[in-house]
Amino acid sequence: MVDLINVSYDTQIPNNVGLSSDKRVLKALEKWHPGYINWWKELGPNGYHDEQVYLRTAVSVDPKGWAKFDYVKMPDYRWGILLAPQVENRVIPCGEHFGEPVWQEIPGEYRSMFRRLIVIQGDTEPASVEQQRFLGKTAPSLYDMRNLFQVNVEEGRHLWAMVYLLQKYFGRDGREEANGLLQRCSGSEDAPRMLGAFNEETPDWLSFFMFTYFTDRDGKMQLESLAQSGFDPLSRTCRFMLTEEAHHMFVGDTGVGRVVRRTCEAMKEAGIDDPYNIEAVRNLGVIDLPTIQKKLNLHYTLSLDLFGSEISTNAANAFSAGVKGRYRETRIDDDHKLLNDTYPVTRMVDGKFVEEQVPALSALNMRLRNDYAREASGGVVRWNAIIKKVGINFDLKMPHQAFHRQIGEFANVNVTPDGDIISDAQWEAKKYEWLPTSADGDFIQSLMVPVTEPGKYAGWIAPPKLGINNQPGDFEYVQLHQS
Ligand SMILES: [Fe+2]
Ligand SMILES: [Fe+2]
Repeated sequence: MVDLINVSYDTQIPNNVGLSSDKRVLKALEKWHPGYINWWKELGPNGYHDEQVYLRTAVSVDPKGWAKFDYVKMPDYRWGILLAPQVENRVIPCGEHFGEPVWQEIPGEYRSMFRRLIVIQGDTEPASVEQQRFLGKTAPSLYDMRNLFQVNVEEGRHLWAMVYLLQKYFGRDGREEANGLLQRCSGSEDAPRMLGAFNEETPDWLSFFMFTYFTDRDGKMQLESLAQSGFDPLSRTCRFMLTEEAHHMFVGDTGVGRVVRRTCEAMKEAGIDDPYNIEAVRNLGVIDLPTIQKKLNLHYTLSLDLFGSEISTNAANAFSAGVKGRYRETRIDDDHKLLNDTYPVTRMVDGKFVEEQVPALSALNMRLRNDYAREASGGVVRWNAIIKKVGINFDLKMPHQAFHRQIGEFANVNVTPDGDIISDAQWEAKKYEWLPTSADGDFIQSLMVPVTEPGKYAGWIAPPKLGINNQPGDFEYVQLHQS
């Protein structure tokens, strides 16, 4: 009998999907495996293939205790295929098929829609590993280095999760897509990753923390909507991925918080009250708050673009088909079909913002983005509480939804972070008050000196409150080679 809670290790690929009795898929995955390892060694964490890293590995999908922590070399990490337990009698939660039993196989008419969504989701996973591959070299501590690698191996596992679905349910097309996922590469000229934000650089650790806070959270929202899918294996896959994703956002949330804390504490110690005295603050070897705001503006807006156009027939079709749902679909109190409902969307009409009621079905991207923005703003509240507590007068702010957008209603308009519409000339004159300049990047880069002594932290970031898995402050999270 297949154990659907604990992970079985009787095949090369740990899993709770009964792979040992599914020879076709097992073979396909075993064939894909060497290419994956090559990809990891070439484009994964650069120069850290032999180090022992204190990582968590999923050994179960039981929410009460699914992971075990131990030292492992990353290329030996047991990337497995894990689906959350099947919910008995689960029904399709939305759209035309509302209330019908969920699908265990993909209905033919929705095959291409599923294929597209799974490939796009799959493409983001290795992309972020590629974006972050040089960060190990400048980690501000072993604790942070370990967290980076934890995020990286789990994004690798998420790639496996999508590749399993492709190989199992899409036959030959799935095999080709699985190979394509290893061929595209973040930032590549000829074969870039599919979504814009995943071709940007993650050049420094503040970028990494902003990315894991804002961009991984977009990933979370996409996974949440796929977790509502009528195709049950996809739903179960995404539900388990969400368990891991929570840690990635924790890394971002606490990471930004620790940077903010260190800056404020250094200012206090030096008797600097004015957060806009940038030179004086930077001379302390910490990142000034206005620059942190610029990085926030950049990463938040790149992440907003990932939700696609506010008004979208693709999103409407996917919902009506039961391919994906809204955030927490089953907890929403309505008919789950939305044929007669409307939803407010801010649009550009004659150069002005106008709130319009549009058919709710076509506004599903907007709705998901609103759910995202609400959650994302929680971090800003927590970071501001840190600033206030240390006693500095400064507030980080979420920029207006129309600021610095490349996709959707606001792609062709210049808007300030406060939401004022301005001319091209005004934008050009002011944009670097709101977005990081290359000089800002150079300054941050100048602080990125590695700290590898256990329990020690770079001067621009405060230590964490707690160790990973309750380990003590001087725990050696990564055992580096002495050379
Ligand atoms: Fe992921
Ligand atoms: Fe993630």
